[in-house]
Amino acid sequence: MIGKVISSSTQTVQFRIHDAEEFENVKVGDLVVIESKYAYLARIHELEARHLGESVLPDKIAALSYPDTVDTIQGLYGPQFYYTAFASLLGILDEDSKRIRGAKSLPKYLSPVRRVTEQDLAFLSATQSKICIGTVRDMTVPIFLDVDTFVSKHAGVFGKTGSGKSNAVKVILREVKARSISTVVFDVHSEYGYHPDGLGGLDNVFVLGLKGAECDVSLHIPRTLINPSELTAITDLTSAQQDALDLIHHRERDWLNYIATRGTEQISEDFGMEIHLETISALKRKVARITTHEFVGEQFDSLTYILKKISHGGTVIIDFGDYENNEWVIRLVSSIVGRYLLGQFRTARRRNQSLPKTLLVLEEAHTLLSKELARGTVFEKIVREGRKFNLGLCIIDQMPKKILDEIISQLNTIIILLLTNLKDREQLINSSENDLTDLKEEMKRLDIGEAIITGIAVPIPIPAQIDLFDRRTLEERQEKEEFKEFDWN
Ligand SMILES: Nc1ncnc2c1ncn2[C@@H]1O[C@H](COP(=O)(O)OP(=O)(O)OP(=O)(O)O)[C@@H](O)[C@H]1O
Ligand SMILES: [Mg+2]
Repeated sequence: MIGKVISSSTQTVQFRIHDAEEFENVKVGDLVVIESKYAYLARIHELEARHLGESVLPDKIAALSYPDTVDTIQGLYGPQFYYTAFASLLGILDEDSKRIRGAKSLPKYLSPVRRVTEQDLAFLSATQSKICIGTVRDMTVPIFLDVDTFVSKHAGVFGKTGSGKSNAVKVILREVKARSISTVVFDVHSEYGYHPDGLGGLDNVFVLGLKGAECDVSLHIPRTLINPSELTAITDLTSAQQDALDLIHHRERDWLNYIATRGTEQISEDFGMEIHLETISALKRKVARITTHEFVGEQFDSLTYILKKISHGGTVIIDFGDYENNEWVIRLVSSIVGRYLLGQFRTARRRNQSLPKTLLVLEEAHTLLSKELARGTVFEKIVREGRKFNLGLCIIDQMPKKILDEIISQLNTIIILLLTNLKDREQLINSSENDLTDLKEEMKRLDIGEAIITGIAVPIPIPAQIDLFDRRTLEERQEKEEFKEFDWN
């Protein structure tokens, strides 16, 4: 037993920590069980050193404790000093059915409080289609996510730089790959492909690269699949330019090539002098920002390549290579790929030929989903509609405060790593559909690789230690599979 309940409300149960318990071993985020008529599972969200209350007490302590002869506050001042913890109720444990149900009642005064055991957490493994991404913090109990909801109902991984986001995503990729769920990773910082700790070269993993990236194939986007909206995403157009663009796009399928290569006056003539020469010149300058890139052309169409790979449960990694800091190339490529896939998934659904469940992983999500840019983009559409046809989005960012609120509210699973910035924590608390208020303190105290996993893919918000991704385990898995498949005759 670590303590006894001294007050309880539906919001918070407060318990006094037993004197025999080492107070500093009781931590924010710890799970405890309160034994009353029911076994209540609760999580500590606040700790406090308390006393019976005298306004000048600290002065008295200071005076009486000099010279240093007493070590404990009780030794100095008697039993009126104690430590308490505040815990929020997560539910009632039902040992027989290995389930947790909502707590609609309260534990009684002086109910004993003990630490959670592995047995108490048996309900964590009751999930149907599950993937394991780590253990409950300070325990060996594995944590399972319901993979179907994780993938199709969108997820977010947030934490300050170096907190362990990319590692967590690699662990997720490791697991979804084993379940033949397809993924497309927008790998802005070249971490997921041919990185010493990436997935490049593994079975059913395909790395497409932009300039400078080590890859299986170079990424090429056919010009004709680029929409005028991609031009408006990277540059401001006047209304005259926008009108002209609409006219040209309406008539010319290869509109980019047409504007880039046809003479200014010829274009004007083609359109019965409806478009001013200055407007055409300006459009030509702006279009060059797309057409001069080596990945835009008529060659090999990477989009159908990606579709083919994900149709067979593949892991597709788009490595941005030298463009890692070029926001508009990141926006352009991600939007085109995203739009193409959304279109394919919509069509497949209309024709009743559903494509495999697919997860799109967006690193540096604010590049596309910031408050200024996100509205109307394809990823906003995917977040709104994707779940209907098994196309899910997992966004990763170090500054959730930059991400549009409506996007955060659609993320049904959130993995929170260390967040030291108050505004980042507040953004998650204010925008998420899950109640994260009690986790506010804990979010700023996490170590690298420690996380809080909340949302519909888990039965309760779980204090987690995420596995450290190790490419070797995947290679070993693959070797075992190959060994099994080898035809010994
Ligand atoms: N679960 C973990 N267990 C142990 N170490 C970890 C864990 N997660 C991350 N680390 C360590 O922290 C380092 C940084 O992790 P990672 O690259 O995942 O951080 P990040 O949040 O993606 O950072 P950035 O914002 O810079 O992209 C890793 O190289 C690894 O050494
Ligand atoms: Mg990272």
